[in-house]
Amino acid sequence: MTDPSATFLLFGATGDLAHRMIFPSLYNLLADGLLPDDFLIVASGRTEMDDAAFRKDIDQALRKFVGADRYDAEVAGKLCGMIVYQPVEAGNAGQFRKLAERLDGRAERGLTVYLSTPPSLFAPTAQGLADAGLLTPTSRIAMEKPIGKDLASSKQVNDGIGALVDESQIFRVDHYLGKETVQNLLALRFGNVMFEPLWNATAIDHVQITVGETVGLEGRVSYYDGVGALRDMVQNHVLQILSIIAMEPPARMDSTAVRDEKVKVLRSLRPMTAETVKTLSVRGQYTSGAVGGEIVAGYADELGRPSDTETFVALKAFIDNWRWQGVPFYLRTGKRMPTRQSEIQIQFKPVRHSIFGRDGRGSGLEPNRLIIRLQPEEYIRLLIMSKRPGLERDVHLEEVTLDVSLTAAFAGQRRRIAYERLILDLLAGDQTLFVRRDEVEAQWAWIDSIIDGWKAAGMKPAPYAAGNWGPSSAIALIERDGASWHD
Ligand code: BG6
Repeated sequence: MTDPSATFLLFGATGDLAHRMIFPSLYNLLADGLLPDDFLIVASGRTEMDDAAFRKDIDQALRKFVGADRYDAEVAGKLCGMIVYQPVEAGNAGQFRKLAERLDGRAERGLTVYLSTPPSLFAPTAQGLADAGLLTPTSRIAMEKPIGKDLASSKQVNDGIGALVDESQIFRVDHYLGKETVQNLLALRFGNVMFEPLWNATAIDHVQITVGETVGLEGRVSYYDGVGALRDMVQNHVLQILSIIAMEPPARMDSTAVRDEKVKVLRSLRPMTAETVKTLSVRGQYTSGAVGGEIVAGYADELGRPSDTETFVALKAFIDNWRWQGVPFYLRTGKRMPTRQSEIQIQFKPVRHSIFGRDGRGSGLEPNRLIIRLQPEEYIRLLIMSKRPGLERDVHLEEVTLDVSLTAAFAGQRRRIAYERLILDLLAGDQTLFVRRDEVEAQWAWIDSIIDGWKAAGMKPAPYAAGNWGPSSAIALIERDGASWHD
């Protein structure tokens, strides 16, 4: 349970993430009685502001982002009453001393630090806290992505923080792990007897993971350009999903057992090379087009200049271990796709021998598919073969769907913001849904192999009109293997 003396120290408190996700999550936790009465939120940013101005700002954010049906002025007032604002700039020792005065000894009783700032400020901020005597063996530090922009820089960030606190005190946030549907993958795989015996190269032909977004740059030019879809989405969210789908069953649901299994998968990803990137990867960048019936500008137009940053990436990945030998994992993610859609498709192999049709043909027999939709809808669909009713002599088969709508099965249960789960776990000190250093580094090692391959091969993003599933080469990437994307 939550440490009753918990103090939550948020850096980057004036930022977008804090307004859209962190404060609304804290609001929901408070509304559900999950925060202790003496909980103190010390919000910090570079802007000079007093407590009253910041509280007003947060109250407005809550009205906007909590949802009209949930917003309750009394709860919002209570939450705002727990917040104090302290301007702090990394490197300004005087401001850290003021922060220490404001904390008035609470740090010794357990301090939860949340770094929602650019990664270049992680280590200097933690150093400032350490110099002001605010870091103790009971402190916890949460860090938002990105942890670096490649393996070398992520090591620097990790070394910087690791010199001040132990790995057991570091909580690297990947908000996809806070999503109910991503956690549900564990329940599906390890809470049911029927999937695990088939969950391997013997029965599975290939796996697809799609994370499609309809949004474009959304005013994030300064962050996104030069980063791109591979670093922004695949390095973290897509690889975390992949690791949960592909990992061996952990012995128990705890942070060491689960993360030990995930990291083994991440380390087994086959690196790409200058030769293989050409056939195993596709980069794309959206040009103007239409999404949801609306005309939208191209990436370069939004940026105001040409750029080599990819807004779409499709990959054919291999996991070189016993379970997955020879099974391609097709991954794709992009901005300005036709729909917002995150899903996993497990394509099973055909039955070994068909008793239907002539030589197995003409009967309508298709291999099974399992579709796990993560968002916006939440469902699990198993496509199985069924006899088409009728008196024909030859049996005709048709695909029918075993459809489990999680939204319907758990109607009445409020869908949580991913950050609610993560903040609660952070306050409780449970690292299971946070990314360990070796995971981040294994992720980067694989991503670096692709980026190096792109550089060596001179691969630039191919254009695709907004509102499409990437350039046509992304379709070729999978169709060459006789499969197709599940759109
Ligand atoms: C973030 C990326 O980590 O995830 C964004 O930086 C992306 O570019 C976002 O839009 C997607 O998150 P979600 O929860 O909306 O799927």
